Amino acid sequence: MAKKINRVQMNLKEQPVPEGSHLLEVDNLQMYFHTQDGVVKAVDGVTYTLDRGETLGVVGESGSGKSVTALTIMGLIDMPPGQIEGGDVRYRGQSLLEMSELQMQDIRGNDIAMIFQDPMTSLNPVYTIGRQLGEGLRLHRGYTKEQATARAIELLDMVGIPNPEERVKDYPHQFSGGMRQRVMIAMALACDPDILIADEPTTALDVTIQAQIIELMMKMQEQNGNAIVMITHDLGVVADIADKIMVMYAGRPVEFGTAEEIFYNPIHPYTWGLVRSIPDPVMTEKHPLTPINGNPPSLVNVPTGCSFSPRCPYATEKCHTERPKRYVTETGHYSTCHYSMEADFVKANAPATSRTRKAAQKSAATDVAPVKADVAEKGGEE
Ligand SMILES: Nc1ncnc2c1ncn2[C@@H]1O[C@H](COP(=O)(O)OP(=O)(O)OP(=O)(O)O)[C@@H](O)[C@H]1O
Ligand SMILES: [Mg+2]
Repeated sequence: MAKKINRVQMNLKEQPVPEGSHLLEVDNLQMYFHTQDGVVKAVDGVTYTLDRGETLGVVGESGSGKSVTALTIMGLIDMPPGQIEGGDVRYRGQSLLEMSELQMQDIRGNDIAMIFQDPMTSLNPVYTIGRQLGEGLRLHRGYTKEQATARAIELLDMVGIPNPEERVKDYPHQFSGGMRQRVMIAMALACDPDILIADEPTTALDVTIQAQIIELMMKMQEQNGNAIVMITHDLGVVADIADKIMVMYAGRPVEFGTAEEIFYNPIHPYTWGLVRSIPDPVMTEKHPLTPINGNPPSLVNVPTGCSFSPRCPYATEKCHTERPKRYVTETGHYSTCHYSMEADFVKANAPATSRTRKAAQKSAATDVAPVKADVAEKGGEE
C-alpha cells in the first residue's frame, strides 16, 4: 500500500511576522490533564513572547510544567487526557491551536523543532543515525536518500562528531551520551527551524560537554538567526545565554523578564530562592547557598491563593487565601506575587549576590519599574 499521505506544505517560516506581532506568542496558555485522580493543572497561564535571534530560558523545579508547556506548543500532548482550557499559541501570527494534525506535522521539525529531554527515547535503536537524521529532510524537503545521507554527514560534522562518513552508518547505542545529544541537536537543526525548543539538553552530561553543547547551539543561532527556548531546572545554565527568562512554579509562570531583570532585579520570592541557590563566587560565609525549603505542591491540589505561599518565608494571610494577579511593569517584566511591586519589600528581601551588587553599583535604580497594569490572571478557578 502506498505510504504517502497528503502533505500540507505551508512553509510558514518564509512568511513575514505580521506587524505588531512576535515570532512566537504564548498567551495565557492553559492545558490541564483530566485524570482519574483529578484535574492536573500542568500549564496554567503561561505567557511570553519570543523573537528571532532571541533565547528564552524556562526555569523551574521538577514537575513545574516546563516540558508539558513545550509539548503543548508542539501539539504533542494526547487529548484526552490533555485538554486546552484557554489561551493561545501564535507562530508568525497564526494560532497553532487551531491547526490540523497535518498542518502541525508540517510545522514540527521544519518551523519549530524540539530536542527532547531524554535522547535515548527519541532516537530509534533499530535505525542508523544517518537514516534518522535524514528523515526530516526527506519528509519536509523531499530529499532523495542520497541527498539526505550527504546532508546527514554534513550535520554530524557540524556538531563535532569525528569521522562522520563512517559514524552516519552507526546505530544510537554505538554513540556515547554526549554524542547522542549532539545527534539530537543535529536532527533538530536539520531543516533550519525558526524556533528550537531544547528540553534540558545538557542535564545528563558532564560539565565540559554541557559547555560544548551550549556553545554549539549558540553558534548555530548566530548563523541561522533562529530563536531558542532553553528549558532547564538550573538558573545558572541560562545565566549567560538567555535574553529573557520565565520562571515556572507549579504549572504557572511566577516571573518573566529580561535576563538582566531576573538576575539583577528579581521581584518574586521564588526567583530569589533560585538566585540564592546559584553558586556565587562572591558569596560570603554569612550568605551560604540557601536551598528553597519544602516541596512543590501536587498539581491536582494546588493551594488556594499563591501556590508558592506554603514555602514562602514572607507569606501573609492574603498570600494563603488570594490568588495573586500578574503584575506587569512598563518593560514587560511580570511577577505573580502580591508584594512584588512594593519597592521596600523587594529592596529589603531580594538576594544580594555579586550580580545584584554589580547592578546596584551601575545604577541606583534598583527599584521596581513603574507598574503598567494589573492584569488579572484568567487562570482556572481554584
Ligand atoms: N500524561 C500525563 N497525565 C497526567 N499528568 C501528567 C502527564 N504528563 C505530565 N503530567 C504532569 O504534569 C506536570 C508537569 O510535568 P512536566 O513534565 O512538564 O514537568 P517538568 O517541569 O518538565 O519537570 P522535570 O524538570 O522533571 O522535567 C507533572 O505534575 C506531571 O506529573
Ligand atoms: Mg521536563
